[in-house]
Amino acid sequence: MIPSADLPLIVSRWFHLGAVIIAVGGTVFLRLVLHPASRRHLPEREQATLISALAARWSRVLYICIAVILLTGIINAAVMLGRHPGQPIYHSLFGIKVLLALVLFFLAIAITGRSKAFTGLRQNRARWMAVNIVLAGIIVLISNILKFLPTA
Ligand code: HEM
Repeated sequence: MIPSADLPLIVSRWFHLGAVIIAVGGTVFLRLVLHPASRRHLPEREQATLISALAARWSRVLYICIAVILLTGIINAAVMLGRHPGQPIYHSLFGIKVLLALVLFFLAIAITGRSKAFTGLRQNRARWMAVNIVLAGIIVLISNILKFLPTA
């Protein structure tokens, strides 16, 4: 039987994973399917118009996902850190995960936003999307390990 005290955690993990699936899945689609297809089949000007229209639309979905991931991540952390007291491996891996997640969020916001400060990053969108896909893979691996570390 699932203890009823764990229901909020189950709901929070569900939203956490749901938002991760949408954000990472969307990025993989854009980087591996849409970007190469538009480069191959559209003239440069039409491609630029399409990419900036997509970035404007996709950024709204992405920012909601980031907000949900952050909120549910904090809820998950509040519960799970309490279940791993004095366990340096859990705390270190969790710290690395949060740092990588913050880098991923920064890159995602920088390449979909309009800030002039990040024009250089936006000129290499494909590269930074690929970096974010790799980061997401590492973060999911760390999350998987965290899940299987024995609780106190
Ligand atoms: C600052 C942001 C984040 C925080 C504070 C956070 C926190 C957490 C915590 C505490 C857990 C539970 C770990 C355990 O079972 O012991 C978790 C699970 C997980 N997180 Fe995050 N997370 C964040 C961002 C992300 C990101 C960016 C991704 C993916 C790219 C991600 C993917 C996952 C996955 C796949 C799980 C496993 C969920 C499950 O099996 O139920 N998290 N997260």
